[in-house]
Amino acid sequence: MQREAFADGLLDFCNRSVTSFHAAANVASRLEAAGFKQLREGEAWRLDKGGKYFLIRNRSAVIAFEIGKGDLADDGFRIIGAHTDSPSFKAKPGPCIVTQDGYIKLNTESYGGAILSTWLDRPLSLAGRAVVLHGDWLEERLFDCSRPLAVIPNLAIHLNRSINDGYAYNKQVDMLPLIGRAKGIDNPGGWLAGIIAAEVNTGPEALVDYDAFLYEAEPGCRMGDLLSASRQDNLTMVYAALDGIIHSGVAATKVVAFFDNEEVGSATAPGADSEFLGGVLLRLVRALGGDESDYLQACANSAAISADAAHAVHPNHPDKHDPINRPVLGGGPTIKYSAAQKYTTNGVTAAWFAQVCEEAGVPVQRYVNRSDIAGGSTIGPAMSKHTGIATVDVGAPILAMHSIRETGHVDDAVYSAKAFRAFYDMVTSRP
Ligand code: CO
Repeated sequence: MQREAFADGLLDFCNRSVTSFHAAANVASRLEAAGFKQLREGEAWRLDKGGKYFLIRNRSAVIAFEIGKGDLADDGFRIIGAHTDSPSFKAKPGPCIVTQDGYIKLNTESYGGAILSTWLDRPLSLAGRAVVLHGDWLEERLFDCSRPLAVIPNLAIHLNRSINDGYAYNKQVDMLPLIGRAKGIDNPGGWLAGIIAAEVNTGPEALVDYDAFLYEAEPGCRMGDLLSASRQDNLTMVYAALDGIIHSGVAATKVVAFFDNEEVGSATAPGADSEFLGGVLLRLVRALGGDESDYLQACANSAAISADAAHAVHPNHPDKHDPINRPVLGGGPTIKYSAAQKYTTNGVTAAWFAQVCEEAGVPVQRYVNRSDIAGGSTIGPAMSKHTGIATVDVGAPILAMHSIRETGHVDDAVYSAKAFRAFYDMVTSRP
């Protein structure tokens, strides 16, 4: 694996995957190029041993698998899960507000837990999914405006002298982006519909609805070994898992599961807290002549990684971390522990992941919250609850998780991909 090329590929993937829809589409084209065939959930499946397949749900979640040549029930699955979505702002229906002073603003609501202040004073663009009436059909089309269109301006310090003492941002007041002056724009209330319709080559009358999200127009970049880019949580793990499934041998059946809606709790059809993964695995077993019992046997012989970004020790706030378990940028993939099982890791799953890393020559770090900080969660608990599969929570450490621009390290991305390749290459039937 060439380190620089891998980092550039990852940045390009982050820059182009501006919404979960675009992440799923980019994953799909990479899988297709690697010989995976697309299945549709609404059609019967005919699968072959050794075959490579993928499917997309809601255009925003992807499951791909390469079927092992051995006995499915005995060998089980090797699964890496991650999520395609990141915190953002979503346009509300009828989104354009024309103010008494003649400005056009977008009416938005927040998606997930963004660090709000980081979205201010920077050029923002819009992307998402349009639903277009085409003849008698409602057609879905992705759009990405790919240019600066909006800005959420701060209030001048002269009008709020205490801004640097901390400020409680009100999402309905402080976070609405400015588009420009209404003057000179016909139908300013329909500004967004006009922009989206033009992006998907139709008229505003044919645009029935849409899911439109804001994103930072300025692409991510490298600063030496550091990566400064939006959505590294969790596109770094998506990219590394994709590299893993494509560039490994096939011992047991290999699976990647990229879910949507992790940032809003995962309890949706394309989210991890659903029957999506279990349903696909059951269909896979049945398509090869197995039954429910074979499926349950396979799950008992399986291993899964829930891959999501971890918190690196902050250079200015070292006291926010546990005294012992303190992952640093560039130190390698991090195993995440939580006694409350916010992360799925236990002694056994942590041990086999550490073993995989050791065999792959990859350093491994460990993270536990300070006992007086609640911390976050991942798709891991949802994924393992629905399948019963032993799971470990790991991830590349980053700074400023959920900022519009997160900071990561090239080595952690490369190490993660190496570890994921090694995980899929494991020959033993049970790690
Ligand atoms: Co995440």
